[in-house]
Amino acid sequence: MSRTWWRGAAIYQVYLRSFADGNGDGVGDLAGLRGRLPYLKELGIGAIWLNPWYPSPMADGGYDVADYRDIEPVFGTLAEAEKFIAEAHELDIKVIIDVVPNHSSTESAWFEQALSDRSVRERFWFRDEPNDWKSIFGGSAWTQVADGQWYLHLFAPEQPDFNWENPEVHQEFEDVLRFWFDRGVDGFRIDSAALLFKSENSYEDLDEVHDVYRRWREIADSYGERILIGEVWLPDQERFARYLRPDELHTAFNFDFLSCPWDPAELRRVIDLTLATHAPIGAPPTWVLSNHDVTRPVTRYGRADTTFAHGGALHGTPSDLELGYRRARAAALLAMALPGCVYVYQGEELGLPEVEDLPDVVRQDPMYARSDGANPGRDGCRVPLPWSGEEPPFGFGTGTPWLPQPETWRKLTAEAQAADLGSMLNLYRSALALRRDLLGDGTLTWLPLGGPGVLAFTRESGLTCVVNLSSEPVRLPPGEVLLVSGPLEDGTLPPDTAAWVS
Ligand code: GLC
Repeated sequence: MSRTWWRGAAIYQVYLRSFADGNGDGVGDLAGLRGRLPYLKELGIGAIWLNPWYPSPMADGGYDVADYRDIEPVFGTLAEAEKFIAEAHELDIKVIIDVVPNHSSTESAWFEQALSDRSVRERFWFRDEPNDWKSIFGGSAWTQVADGQWYLHLFAPEQPDFNWENPEVHQEFEDVLRFWFDRGVDGFRIDSAALLFKSENSYEDLDEVHDVYRRWREIADSYGERILIGEVWLPDQERFARYLRPDELHTAFNFDFLSCPWDPAELRRVIDLTLATHAPIGAPPTWVLSNHDVTRPVTRYGRADTTFAHGGALHGTPSDLELGYRRARAAALLAMALPGCVYVYQGEELGLPEVEDLPDVVRQDPMYARSDGANPGRDGCRVPLPWSGEEPPFGFGTGTPWLPQPETWRKLTAEAQAADLGSMLNLYRSALALRRDLLGDGTLTWLPLGGPGVLAFTRESGLTCVVNLSSEPVRLPPGEVLLVSGPLEDGTLPPDTAAWVS
């Protein structure tokens, strides 16, 4: 891979609990992931980003970290993680892990010490009186401890927020970064990256956070080509871009694109805005269609309202899954053709829909419980992957998966799709292979083609991407058709379909 591998990378997100189970306990693990590395190699991705793999009581799927320097025993051991990193590297696949600097777990050593010893409470936000802040997961953002003080948790009560005014917290995380860089990881995805500092009346995007990332960048650079990726949900592009200045983070997730409806004018607006935001600072944009927090695209694009809405607002509204599937295929070709990095969330390449009918008793996401069931939470995009066979657990492992898989997924297993040339899996494989040579980092030029319902642009390699979001078929430009998301009709591109033409 080139020296600047991260500028055009295709990054596959592994939600470890649901990827593949190697030991039969119904929960995905490192053994399962190691066994499936050849699948990821064949898929054609350049890097893996793993959600948190640290010891955790799993109050928030591992985003409640009890120990930043070890591996959750359900997932494996530190030695196994090191083996996994080495094996991925042998296949020329980079490894990016999650770091969670905003909060830890109530079961972390630091928090347990803070409970028994007031003199070390300054590592967290303890106060005699709570303020009126609400938790992002619902309910108050404060929980009272036995001696009467309250601690802040922007998320679940099991996730106490660190106090970044305390230099000890800085030292701790700098050391954690080094710990994992020393073990060979190629980068970090930084959870809740804009929330670290708090003032009396705000916890979002305070200026002090930038000094933290400048320091982290120095550390990353001291290891060579390493990458820092921010989870920065900020509607203000100017504020967003500050995280990507040349001495701060390398990239950040594009949540505008992820939330954008299937609408040509809106998509064009978001793409142009993204490019305009990134160009002056020289950072590559990222193109993200889904992750472990949001509704899967097949379901979202099949609804009347195709935006992604937080809080599960559209959960259960009717979805035409055939239409959603067709659009998700076209969206994949769009995302993979755009200049910069692309993310693929596990199962996206299988065209999995959101599982909207999980029985309430199996739901584990704290969003569900903390909203008294008003918000169904994010379990529906975290259902264990179907690998093979005719019935659950579909080759996920030998045990009963921690969330039940729909029977209908027999048609969606990786095995079934590998054998079907027209499958989503084979579309992703073909697209990622072409992308490696012809796309990735760079710029685009819009083409005036087919009217306002059509997005068409060329890339430096000469590849043209055409996406038809209108209701009429569109004539393709002359050239060789390299890939289509659905069959052409009399040589024209049907609605909700995309093509790559050379
Ligand atoms: C991020 C993660 C999400 C988690 C939250 C709190 O948004 O993506 O899964 O619940 O942070 O850590």
